[in-house]
Amino acid sequence: MTHLRCLYTGRAPSRALAIADLRAMALRRLPGFVAEFLEGGAEDENTLAANLASFAQARFAPRVLTGPPPPSGIRLFGQDLPLPLVIAPTGFNALHWHEGDLALARAAARAGVPFTQSTVSNATIEQVAATGARHWFQLYAFRDRGASAALVERARQAGAAALVITVDAQLYGKRAWNTRLYRGENALRWPAMLDAARHPRWMAQVWARGMPGFANLYPFLPQGQSGLLPSARWVREAIDPALDWSILGWARQHWSGPLIVKGIGHPEDAARALAKGADGIVLSNHGGRQLDGALPALDLVAAVRDRLGDGPTVLIDGGARRGVDLAIARARGADAVMTGRATLYGLAAAGEAGVARALSILAEEYALAQGLIAGGPLWPPQGA
Ligand SMILES: Cc1cc2nc3c(=O)[nH]c(=O)nc-3n(C[C@H](O)[C@H](O)[C@H](O)COP(=O)(O)O)c2cc1C
Repeated sequence: MTHLRCLYTGRAPSRALAIADLRAMALRRLPGFVAEFLEGGAEDENTLAANLASFAQARFAPRVLTGPPPPSGIRLFGQDLPLPLVIAPTGFNALHWHEGDLALARAAARAGVPFTQSTVSNATIEQVAATGARHWFQLYAFRDRGASAALVERARQAGAAALVITVDAQLYGKRAWNTRLYRGENALRWPAMLDAARHPRWMAQVWARGMPGFANLYPFLPQGQSGLLPSARWVREAIDPALDWSILGWARQHWSGPLIVKGIGHPEDAARALAKGADGIVLSNHGGRQLDGALPALDLVAAVRDRLGDGPTVLIDGGARRGVDLAIARARGADAVMTGRATLYGLAAAGEAGVARALSILAEEYALAQGLIAGGPLWPPQGA
């Protein structure tokens, strides 16, 4: 029998039926070095693989004859959301699509889901605010706390709804597959350049529109270092490698709204973050890009929920690619899921329309999963 299964790799987001189709579309359009940056993980990528496997291995024991399907919406930090999903902060979004941050934010605004803007985004805080998205701002704490305070103040003035402090990137993960594509710090190797030339749709955007740097960091970058690669190096050196719990006290002085700590990987740290003034946490291993060998957040969330009780807001991220993954995360005890690559695949496939498609796929699949699970538990039941 001829095997007729294949993913959609054309250009029409409406024809993508799964995040896997958007990924295939993205991988066709992107040069290899951008695809590597988007997809890759640290070292042997064991944690990256474990993140995906953690969701793939979960199984429900569904209930039947339970009447109308449950609603998809949740309440998070006092706001009603249409589904338990927040777009994760990702840097360099303009590498994937011109004005990538704005495309993500606009699609998020239309869907009513929060968009988290990274410190190393390519749009300004004010540009993202102008999209009308539920705007969360993610902070990498710099050694220069004055620079960090200035960013937080800008986010406050722009009306950001939450501050997310990332605490698992004080050292930069060893992403050797990515590094091997470069000669020295500033230039791609020839094969990677030739490969880029063979991706005309991506190249045409870069030629026509240019490649913006880290728009929010221009005030701090040394003269002559505002290009993408030199400023990326600057950021690595600027991030405080000796962060400790005092950063939460510092953040509380500068930010009175919801404060979320992202990158928690242990139940005791979850409890400590809340004791130090955080309003919520994100269990995360940074999408397998930092410590290779870290646990998937999904495997940790039940223990964290046991430690914290029902009250505190717990998000998880890493490996979610299907609507059912949101249901799995919630069944284990998370309030919501952050998506990194799932929504980035949509961006890289087709810009704002691709992100909108990613969100609608996840929303449809989540509603379907909820209807079919009908309140049934994950099996074996937790604690059994
Ligand atoms: C291309 C890329 C860039 C990222 N940049 C950031 C960042 O700037 N700040 C941050 O806190 N996390 C960053 N992350 C981690 C994500 O916020 C998130 O933790 C991770 O992508 C979740 O895993 P998933 O991609 O499997 O959904 C990045 C992830 C990717 C894939």
